[in-house]
Amino acid sequence: MEKFIISGGSSLSGRLRVKGAKNSILPILAASLLTSERVELKDVPDISDVKVMLNILECLGVKVSREKDILLLEPGSLYTSEIPESLMCEMRSSIFLMGPLLGRLGKVKVSYPGGCDIGPRPIDLHLKGLISMGVNIKEENGCVQAEARSLKGSNVHLDFPSVGATENIMMAAIYARGTTTIHNAAKEPEIIDLQNFLNKMGAKIKGAGTDTIKIEGVKSLGKVSYTLIPDRILAGTMIIAAAITRGELMLENVIPEHLEAVSSKLREAGVEIWEEGDVLHVKGRKINAVQSVRTLPYPGFPTDMQAQTMTLLTLARGTSVITENVFDGRFSHVGELKKMGADIMVDGRSAVIQGVKQLHGAVVKAPDLRAGAALVLAGLAAEGHTIVEEIHHIDRGYEKFEETLRGLGANIKRVGIPAEV
Ligand code: EPZ
Repeated sequence: MEKFIISGGSSLSGRLRVKGAKNSILPILAASLLTSERVELKDVPDISDVKVMLNILECLGVKVSREKDILLLEPGSLYTSEIPESLMCEMRSSIFLMGPLLGRLGKVKVSYPGGCDIGPRPIDLHLKGLISMGVNIKEENGCVQAEARSLKGSNVHLDFPSVGATENIMMAAIYARGTTTIHNAAKEPEIIDLQNFLNKMGAKIKGAGTDTIKIEGVKSLGKVSYTLIPDRILAGTMIIAAAITRGELMLENVIPEHLEAVSSKLREAGVEIWEEGDVLHVKGRKINAVQSVRTLPYPGFPTDMQAQTMTLLTLARGTSVITENVFDGRFSHVGELKKMGADIMVDGRSAVIQGVKQLHGAVVKAPDLRAGAALVLAGLAAEGHTIVEEIHHIDRGYEKFEETLRGLGANIKRVGIPAEV
């Protein structure tokens, strides 16, 4: 298996253009199944989660071709509604293939989703929404069989503003008879991206970005060419890479309002962040402890930035507290950071971080995508060499992460035998 070898201590500096959002392209690839016409997607990141999703689409009958950052899909006529279990288990996001396949074919068979090990990943909210639209669900031997002779518009209230459930129900509602209203919907920018993509194909959706989304059923969707929004979590990760190495970065193709909660908290921690046009400037200085970081659904502080922020705060002057309110068990990076000398105590949903003067290199394992990125950031700042193993988790959401960092002055290389995707 591959690993990163990092020699800490270099300050990052330079310019980086942020590419399209992982958490946009995955639901949008699923939504592409709703049309039989040509779909062109621009600014698509070259990450393994996209490769897995494209493998699934090809198994369903979609013709796929890629020219650098442009993807071309010909969904034509799908010839199955069963997703291979081996592919389903690789990635949680495959669960939002249910909505489009129910809309397009009236049936779908999926296995319970795989993906990151960040606590239980139930799908009850997805299923509750689909059942309210007339879908029959049968769960057996780890698979979910769903069928619907015809989908009807419904009033769905989500107990929690789940991103995936919001997206799945939006997609299932496209061809439903009548109007579907989602209350307590997730408000992430990626939900707005999905609405804009679907509306450009001829859907009639409004309200994405608010907690009430209305989808009016239509008869068909057409072709589309669409450019993704930039990846706010990649941008946030690179801001912390600059901060933790006392470097200075210019990030292009960033939408500052998507990062409001992150920028505000990192300014509190002493990071200098300012905008010049559509370039976000970051300068790392001394790091102050912050009294409280609480992850919440958007527009609150994003759970996907929690691990990276904890890494930064391990080197802050003073004591910080991070509370993870979105996922159970999203502290798998704590044990690995402690191997590098961090002083962190976990108590339920909260972690208390006492800043230390220096982290030291160690052999650590990436437990999941964002925790893996957080360990790389720790290695950039640590004294000596850090080896990060299980980096296939990082490749799921960061395109050529070591090349990006090396291009900005980091001393990092990838060694070992690549895993098959
Ligand atoms: C999406 O996951 C993102 N993934 C995650 O990013 C992100 O962390 C998460 O939203 C929250 O923002 C993609 O968009 C591909 P949820 P999703 O449904 O849809 C509970 C990354 O690092 N829940 O909003 O799976 C669930 O257990 C990944 O890029 C139910 O209880 O997240 C969790 O506690 C990680 N029942 C909470 O809701 C359900 O039916 C939030 O989950 C669904 C979810």
